[in-house]
Amino acid sequence: MTERLFDTAITRLLGIRHPILCGGLMWLADARYVAAVVNAGGMGFITARTFPDFDAFRAELRLCGELTRGRPFGVNLFISGRAEENAVLDRYLEILVEEGVRLVETAGNTPEALMPALKAAGCTVIHKVSAVRHGLRAEKAGVDALAIVGQECGGHPGLHFVGTMVQGALAARTFTVPFALGGGIGDGRQLLAALALGADAIVMGSRMTVASEVWAHEDYKRKVLELTEADSRLVMASFRNTYRCIDNEAARAVAELETAGERDFARYLPHVRGANAREAYATGDWNRGILSMGQSAAFADEIKPVAEIFAEILADAAAARGRLDRMRPAEEAPTSAGS
Ligand SMILES: Cc1cc2nc3c(=O)[nH]c(=O)nc-3n(C[C@H](O)[C@H](O)[C@H](O)COP(=O)(O)O)c2cc1C
Repeated sequence: MTERLFDTAITRLLGIRHPILCGGLMWLADARYVAAVVNAGGMGFITARTFPDFDAFRAELRLCGELTRGRPFGVNLFISGRAEENAVLDRYLEILVEEGVRLVETAGNTPEALMPALKAAGCTVIHKVSAVRHGLRAEKAGVDALAIVGQECGGHPGLHFVGTMVQGALAARTFTVPFALGGGIGDGRQLLAALALGADAIVMGSRMTVASEVWAHEDYKRKVLELTEADSRLVMASFRNTYRCIDNEAARAVAELETAGERDFARYLPHVRGANAREAYATGDWNRGILSMGQSAAFADEIKPVAEIFAEILADAAAARGRLDRMRPAEEAPTSAGS
């Protein structure tokens, strides 16, 4: 396993080797992927809403525990803006606690309603936000750590499209709990930059979609390899539910509806329903569905195991740290007396 380079508040909080979190990935973050992340020294999150029913979720947790040989891993609980979609969260929580999981990444809406149950169960909670003010609210609710993403990120960049560079420095000035920084991160230079900004870890999603352990069809991964930093698109901003996703046929169809001022969600549904994305991952037909993807797809240049992706990122971070060290000015020669 890659040499340990950084000791941070988050590596200590989670007992992990490297300050690398791989956030929840709808449909993709299953036991095999999350175990690969954990076994490579980072932290991953089984994404609860991915599984067809509670039994399948429980089975996935058990499999992950076997694949990590008992090493801790996390679960991602996405908190919807629609209350009726959150009825399942209590049951997910019961199951994950029964299965011995004690780490939860919450995301989406505020985790306040879930916090008493999470804390009563002894869970460590990392809440992911796209705005500093949401982070402050979650801190008050008692989360142990935060993750903050900038507008470059795949998935939900929030409403105001604040960049990762700004989020990182603002978070460092503002948050009192440790935080991870994400959004466009997929290179070791950025890991070092995130730590320099004040983060205690990075959180990645897009860069990891081409990991060998991700079950998605090879044609999808090959498409991701081709993507540049300019090949994502923002959709659904008109519903205050923005996604950054692959600029594909489905995304363009949604963009056209938005440009035309369409307000009837039913017209969007054929393009945005989650089942389409699952189909796209299963068949490799990457034009189908809204497929979350950020600018860091540009760093995905080879399908390879998680451990190799981490090794590359860590080697680049070490080189970047060396470069900074070499930038120290030489001791100034003493000037002649009196000058
Ligand atoms: C394909 C994909 C699916 C995602 N699904 C989820 C999800 O279900 N829940 C969640 O909290 N975040 C989700 N995210 C966001 C990631 O966990 C992470 O915060 C984000 O990808 C970080 O930014 P990056 O894409 O620039 O690395 C997803 C991201 C991608 C790329």
